[in-house]
Amino acid sequence: MPLRSRLADCGSWKALVAHRSAIEPLDLRSAFAAEPGRAARCTTIGAGWTLDWSKQLMQRGTMPLLLDLAREREVPERFAAMLSGARLNWTEERSVLHTALRAPPTAAIEVDGSNVVPAVHDTLGRMAHFSTALRNGAWLGSTGKRIRHVINIGIGGSDLGPAMAYQALQPWRTRELDCRFVSNVDGNDLSIAIEGLDPEQTLFIICSKTFTTQETMENAGSARAWLVSRLGEDAVGRHFVAVSTNEAKVRAFGIDPGHMFGFWDWVGGRYSMDSAIGLSTMVAVGPERFSELLAGFHAMDEHARTAPLGSNLPVLLGMIGVWNASVLGLPTLAVLPYEQLLARFPAYLQQLLMESNGKRVDDHGQPVSWQTCPVVFGEAGTNGQHAFYQMLHQGTTIVPIDFICFRTAAHPMGRHRLLLNANAIAQAQAFAFGRTAAEVRAEGTPEPLVAHRTFPGNRPSSFLWAEALTPATLGSLIALYEHATFVEGVVWGINSFDQWGVELGKSLAVDVIKGLSAPDAPSTHDSSTDALIRALHAKAT
Ligand code: F6P
Repeated sequence: MPLRSRLADCGSWKALVAHRSAIEPLDLRSAFAAEPGRAARCTTIGAGWTLDWSKQLMQRGTMPLLLDLAREREVPERFAAMLSGARLNWTEERSVLHTALRAPPTAAIEVDGSNVVPAVHDTLGRMAHFSTALRNGAWLGSTGKRIRHVINIGIGGSDLGPAMAYQALQPWRTRELDCRFVSNVDGNDLSIAIEGLDPEQTLFIICSKTFTTQETMENAGSARAWLVSRLGEDAVGRHFVAVSTNEAKVRAFGIDPGHMFGFWDWVGGRYSMDSAIGLSTMVAVGPERFSELLAGFHAMDEHARTAPLGSNLPVLLGMIGVWNASVLGLPTLAVLPYEQLLARFPAYLQQLLMESNGKRVDDHGQPVSWQTCPVVFGEAGTNGQHAFYQMLHQGTTIVPIDFICFRTAAHPMGRHRLLLNANAIAQAQAFAFGRTAAEVRAEGTPEPLVAHRTFPGNRPSSFLWAEALTPATLGSLIALYEHATFVEGVVWGINSFDQWGVELGKSLAVDVIKGLSAPDAPSTHDSSTDALIRALHAKAT
């Protein structure tokens, strides 16, 4: 793909910056009063999801200008190029084809002249065979006992997606076994996960694209030692399987490649939960529900590919992100799922958005002069309301918000869903319209308290909702954010698919490990690093 021009040189970008000055200060109360049809105009539906973006800090003319920018940055052309296997991840010379993971078996998507779809479905078939055997007790441990506990060991994209999906899909999971997730190199993580477990009934899935990641390999080694100390070396083959692209390393670890589930270098770690990295998800919910999850992803892929820009959910969500971060200069994004089953979704999105677009140089290697990825954080509603919403309502930083809701619930708990959704809707209303000093006074509030009880409003939010959380709507929600992240990266002119920023800390840790192992050896570290090594070595021993 040719290098893009710089964003700052685009006519539509300059028009947007001018538009911002022209419409400020934007007041949502006035905007809603002036346009009774604003909510209808700013509501868009696709792939089972409805997005109400009417409470963004925009005027009628704002979105058309944002769509002009999307066109000038060639978002549709770039999306088509990604779908067809172009090497968009040019700093690592890789295609970006997570969409092939959910393509139907009849699709043909080529990388280096060969169709990757048959291999995707071959792996799905092997995963289904293994998952079914584990779920129905055909796959037994080395002593003939049924597996009751599955422990996924991985980190980043090899953990966050599977862990998030396991929680999200609780209503559909088998009760014949449970899944646990170990990611942190802190031994507390593994030791708590295996506490009280019978090794004869425990199976480990070692998930690592590279099979070299320090944390995962340390945890895998300790899990292996735990199992071998109780069941002997020969048990490893029945209690360990791997998900990786690195067969040589998997074999060296002692896992039979016949028990390895592969994927490909064109699947980025943070885009991999619908590859074999989702093996624990399939084990938990079964192959049929996993197919529904993939169908949900694919439905959003198709919506993103075919819907006109003005009614294209990923384009709208992505361009809202560009508006808030780069034009309005708002440096954060709160993702607030009003759904307990999505409690891990904000953490999942942190990697998806921040590892993808947390970049400061563009295609040309030039520092950007616009803000790229916001700081992403969040918490399931209503818990967040009793923690950090105070700052969102009355703090000095304006935090754009994505609310996520479902009309119905899988549980039978009476009014709970009504109360939950009422809270979400009321919060969005409060953020947008606030409460003026005059209104506070009219309630009879004593004058010294008026300022404290005033809400400024004009705090932007989007409201995303679907009928119910199902495997399919979960898949389409994730694909929505994947593609919105793509749209933002294209507009910003950055490579959303590499992650060089994680390398420095990893390589420096090699020397620090040596230092902590031999603190009296001569060192060339700075004085602070040396002091910390000496202090923490003393504590560690
Ligand atoms: O954090 C860096 C990273 O490379 C992520 O992109 C990836 O998801 C994670 O590490 C785990 O990598 P692996 O699957 O190779 O162990």
